[in-house]
Amino acid sequence: MTAQRWRLDGQTALITGASAGIGLAIARELLGFGADVMIVGRDIDMLESARDDLADEFPAQAIHALAADVSDDEDRREILDWVEDHADGLHILVNNAGGNITRPAIDYTEDEWRNIFETNLFSAFELSRYAHPLLARHAASAIVNVGSVSGLTHVRSGAVYGMTKAAMHQMTRNLAVEWAEDGIRVNAVAPWYIRTRRTSGPLADPYYYEQVIDRTPMRRIGEPEEVASAVGFLCLPAASYVTGECIAVDGGFLRYGF
Ligand SMILES: NC(=O)c1ccc[n+]([C@@H]2O[C@H](COP(=O)([O-])OP(=O)(O)OC[C@H]3O[C@@H](n4cnc5c(N)ncnc54)[C@H](OP(=O)(O)O)[C@@H]3O)[C@@H](O)[C@H]2O)c1
Repeated sequence: MTAQRWRLDGQTALITGASAGIGLAIARELLGFGADVMIVGRDIDMLESARDDLADEFPAQAIHALAADVSDDEDRREILDWVEDHADGLHILVNNAGGNITRPAIDYTEDEWRNIFETNLFSAFELSRYAHPLLARHAASAIVNVGSVSGLTHVRSGAVYGMTKAAMHQMTRNLAVEWAEDGIRVNAVAPWYIRTRRTSGPLADPYYYEQVIDRTPMRRIGEPEEVASAVGFLCLPAASYVTGECIAVDGGFLRYGF
């Protein structure tokens, strides 16, 4: 009985932005708990290579991949049609795909900032709404939103990224309350610097790297697997009474005043 609360056998999870970085680590984590996964990313080659690697590691489980852009509403609808075609409803949705352009607030073009909103926030809201009937089909299901410490305090990501992540955290709290009666738990994680493709540029600058480490009590960069573990916990039956929460995966960053 206890062991089953730490397993996801027979469950299907849809993970956006899962061909690399944190999303790929989440797919691997959920497969490790026994789930079947459906992964989405834009670049077909990277996506297929991720699917092949996962299939080698987890040959007994179903791993489906679809090239789609979550910032495009037609693609979002296509993703849900694809899920309906391949699975009996959905147990887990992880809204992980995200992107950013860092600029001073007054320098963003309208197209740029609107696209960051489409990619990071509107995608998660719409995919959650489109997935609602599939998630509600099961007695217990879960959404996990990959937010950021930048949605909770100022970091040097630029205002727009922080705005999208802050709204994502509030969306998490609202949907958790609204959808509790449907058996859908909704939670979030808030990572600080994690070693992925998108952070490799800034972290390659030794001065910038030192500044990041100086603000991190654990004095290191996080790994994608460390975010994936927190997401995995929130998906598990073990977290069955946890909803509307946000787990920071930040090496103590948010708790570090002076
Ligand atoms: N790394 C960090 O330090 C950090 C910190 C806080 C929060 N986060 C959040 O964690 C999430 C993942 O970040 P990451 O660092 O793992 O990024 P990453 O290494 O760049 O991976 C991003 C993944 O998302 C996919 N993707 C990007 N835009 C997409 C779109 N419009 N539609 C579909 N798929 C898309 C990418 O594939 P394609 O490019 O082929 O589409 C890739 O699979 C993001 O929401 C990010 O904001 C990251």
